[in-house]
Amino acid sequence: MWPSKITISLYYLSFVLYNILLITPSLSSELCNPNDKATLFQIKQSFGNPYHLASWTNQTDCCHWYSVECDRTNHRDLTFRKLPDLIGQIPVEITKLKNLKSLRLDSNNLSGPIPSFLSRLKKLHSLDLSFNKFSGSVPLSLALFPNLYEMDLSRNQLSGTIPKSFFSSFKLNNVTIDLSHNQLSGRVPTSLGNVYEIYLSRNQLTGDASAWFRNRNTRLIDLSRNKLKFNLSSVEFGLGLEDIDLNHNKIYGSIPPSLAGLTQLQYFNVSYNQLCGRLPTGGQLAQFDQYSFFHNRCLCGAPLTPC
Ligand SMILES: *[C@@H]1O[C@H](CO)[C@@H](O)[C@H](O)[C@H]1NC(C)=O
Ligand SMILES: *[C@@H]1O[C@H](CO)[C@@H](O)[C@H](O)[C@H]1NC(C)=O
Ligand SMILES: *[C@@H]1O[C@H](CO)[C@@H](O)[C@H](O)[C@H]1NC(C)=O
Ligand SMILES: *[C@@H]1O[C@H](CO)[C@@H](O)[C@H](O)[C@H]1NC(C)=O
Ligand SMILES: *[C@@H]1O[C@H](CO)[C@@H](O)[C@H](O)[C@H]1NC(C)=O
Repeated sequence: MWPSKITISLYYLSFVLYNILLITPSLSSELCNPNDKATLFQIKQSFGNPYHLASWTNQTDCCHWYSVECDRTNHRDLTFRKLPDLIGQIPVEITKLKNLKSLRLDSNNLSGPIPSFLSRLKKLHSLDLSFNKFSGSVPLSLALFPNLYEMDLSRNQLSGTIPKSFFSSFKLNNVTIDLSHNQLSGRVPTSLGNVYEIYLSRNQLTGDASAWFRNRNTRLIDLSRNKLKFNLSSVEFGLGLEDIDLNHNKIYGSIPPSLAGLTQLQYFNVSYNQLCGRLPTGGQLAQFDQYSFFHNRCLCGAPLTPC
């Protein structure tokens, strides 16, 4: 259930809809699909007929409307940008645009819960709702897009726990998920599924992420500035890892020597944890300076002080 009436001022609404149109040549010379045109009218109305959409009228091809573009193959690109006083939440009518591949509503003042009806957009491959004021929890339904490989929900006010099977429910194996800069709490899911890149920095997550690093498919794990607490000593690292950021947590134990065997590793940061023991050497580890390791309980050896 969604609050039926939320009034929001949108100063920077960026809203990109790709591939809205099927290639269905009509008798008229108008490129715009009539069904989509009707839907766009409904969206305009849901946003309170903002002044900036005054060019959206029946007298013109929607491909010529402000913020709407159609390319040569009839795929349409709709962008709402910097529309002051645009009012409303994400209108449910968006789900009628069945061919939508990309939905970008970042950098606005949108609030309320993230609508789970978005997952009806079966062709969506990219969803960007970052830099808004969305609150409530992350709905499990958001992991059920069959074609999604980019999801950015960062810099909102999302709270609650991440559903247990959230990461393992994504279908594709090249998914990038950004949930950083929110107020998510509770234990992290034990499995990262097949996620390719995960950004969870600056939340209040607790629990054990030690099983996440095994995945051969995962490239990037950013868990910095949370409250995770697990023993790093016997963590296994998948060979595809390029970027590991664990700074500012409560991780204990020691740094496994196997880390030196990660040939792709470009960034590593375990500073501000509770780690102890001698730093392993060799391989990619040689490139990291003290700022990757400082502020731990008792780590020692180059580039820190000798043991
Ligand atoms: C968002 O809305 C609030 C009040 O509703 C307003 O003070 C603020 O300036 C708005 N922010 C942006 C980026 O438009
Ligand atoms: C646009 O024209 C169609 C067909 O004449 C009509 O059904 C529809 O109500 C009109 N929409 C608006 C918003 O004027
Ligand atoms: C992710 O995989 C899908 C399906 O195989 C593919 O269409 C898409 O281009 C891939 N995206 C990236 C960023 O690699
Ligand atoms: C962490 O795990 C290692 C290896 O399993 C074990 O030897 C060590 O005692 C553990 N450290 C702590 C603080 O529990
Ligand atoms: C690791 O994180 C800490 C804390 O944010 C930061 O001060 C340090 O510069 C980072 N190290 C590297 C190598 O970026």
